Amino acid sequence: MTNSASVWPATATMPRYDAIAADRRTGVLVVGGGMVGLTTALELQLAGADVLLVEADRIGSRTSGHTTGKVTSQHGAIYAQLADRHGLEAARQYGMANQAGVERVASLIDQFGIDCEFTRAPAFVYATEGTDLRREAEVAAELGLPAHSADSAELGLPVKATEVVRFDNQVHLHPSRYLAGLAAAFTAAGGTIFEHTRVTEIEDGIEASTERGPIIRADHAVMATLLPIGTLGGYFARTRPQQSHGIALRLPVPAPAGMTISADGPTRSTRPWPGGGPNGLIIVGSGHEVGDQTDTDAAYRSLSDWAGSLWNERLEPDYRWSAHDYSTPDQLPYVGKAPGSPVLVATGMHKWGLSNGTVAAGILRDLILQRDNEFHLLYDAGRIGDAHSVATLVKDNLKVGKEFAAGHLRRLAGGGLDHVEVGQGGLYDLDGTTVGAYCDRDGRLHTVVPVCTHLGCPLRWNQGDATWDCNCHGSRFNPDGTVLDGPTTTPLATPDTAER
Ligand SMILES: Cc1cc2nc3c(=O)[nH]c(=O)nc-3n(C[C@H](O)[C@H](O)[C@H](O)COP(=O)(O)OP(=O)(O)OC[C@H]3O[C@@H](n4cnc5c(N)ncnc54)[C@H](O)[C@@H]3O)c2cc1C
Ligand code: FES
Repeated sequence: MTNSASVWPATATMPRYDAIAADRRTGVLVVGGGMVGLTTALELQLAGADVLLVEADRIGSRTSGHTTGKVTSQHGAIYAQLADRHGLEAARQYGMANQAGVERVASLIDQFGIDCEFTRAPAFVYATEGTDLRREAEVAAELGLPAHSADSAELGLPVKATEVVRFDNQVHLHPSRYLAGLAAAFTAAGGTIFEHTRVTEIEDGIEASTERGPIIRADHAVMATLLPIGTLGGYFARTRPQQSHGIALRLPVPAPAGMTISADGPTRSTRPWPGGGPNGLIIVGSGHEVGDQTDTDAAYRSLSDWAGSLWNERLEPDYRWSAHDYSTPDQLPYVGKAPGSPVLVATGMHKWGLSNGTVAAGILRDLILQRDNEFHLLYDAGRIGDAHSVATLVKDNLKVGKEFAAGHLRRLAGGGLDHVEVGQGGLYDLDGTTVGAYCDRDGRLHTVVPVCTHLGCPLRWNQGDATWDCNCHGSRFNPDGTVLDGPTTTPLATPDTAER
């Protein structure tokens, strides 16, 4: 029986923290307890700042607890693209920044004795359908990265790879145990964490309102919420939410020891799963924009089918999960001061936020402490980008506009509420009004107004994950309407219906 949960939080003992109960004053407020927030909070506290971190749910409960757990400067076949787009010097800085991120993670683990299955391993990117990786190998090596062309036998995957690039001495780890270790180190250094404390608004001042009522006043604030909440800095319109699916399974043979990712679509990213024994393997892929695919059961199946076809056996995953991250039009994260606000942000990690997020934490620490940081300009949060970026933004926002308009017109319900089957959800009719409904395994009916509370886009039902997803900017909601992921901070409205 497959467990519909990320393997990482399910196999970690996460520390617990109280919710905020009274107004607070602090030097630095960090909003969000994922990779970016916890690393930033720790870096600042270690540098002598007075830091308070608030997390809407539990620390590490969202994207950072749902990753593949690769900490690497090998981000698919990115370096040739970065060099073509931004020049060799920018590509070099990106590579150096992420190599430094890998080594910073290693040194924090060492310094604080974090028990998180830290393992050094090679990271491979391979082509099976003609993508030319020779230039990727050349550019990466020229930039000073530990990269070279490799033989397909080194992959350990039974795929017909035409080209392979190998990055040596990279890292995979148990992300939740790593985050638990960061949190313990942060509080031991004098930092404060409040869980179950959602920030609903942040005013220049800096004054943050929380859903529970108390207000937090700070000299500096860092918004580490995957995407800044509300409309802060306009990042909702400068990024796209990319969702991926993950499974943890046991192969009939020992799993490949290295980390692999395909350069050709559909993306398949693998790494060993030590918790599953020598045959344990994590596979992540089947990506799409949040809300673009509603039959997400098929996305999960495609991952286990892929493994089944490679190892000639029907394979049932132990765990399955999904999460999303934001992409930017120029492939570089936004880290620094948000335009028109004193708040600092870090977003748009392109699904490589374990290394990029560690780099971001160093930049944010140095900005607050008014120190130089060699990577700050590359990740500049205020940049508009080149003509290609602007064209991409225009196209993305046209898509959002169409989703907004067409989505409201297409709201056709699938029958009355008595048609909702156990375990099923979708749009239904309630007295002539279209509502969102889901019947849970205990037969309880949950109904919501299926309109996103961020900027009003129509929501789509995600059957594989049992969530309401917004294709416009990536907000996601539980069946009862509570917020799973921002940028929204407000639960869904519920129509007045009786439970059965
Ligand atoms: C499927 C998948 C696999 C990935 N694999 C890898 C990988 O192998 N290697 C890699 O480098 N990167 C990977 N990534 C990317 C990486 O996981 C992310 O870039 C990174 O985790 C982002 O960290 P974060 O701290 O910004 O976000 P999160 O981990 O989402 O943390 C943000 C936190 O803010 C909280 N929050 C939100 N709103 C509020 C609010 N209003 N008030 C208070 N708190 C709030 C949330 O609850 C959450 O805990 C992957 C991404 C995905 C989707
Ligand atoms: S996330 Fe922006 S409208 Fe839904």
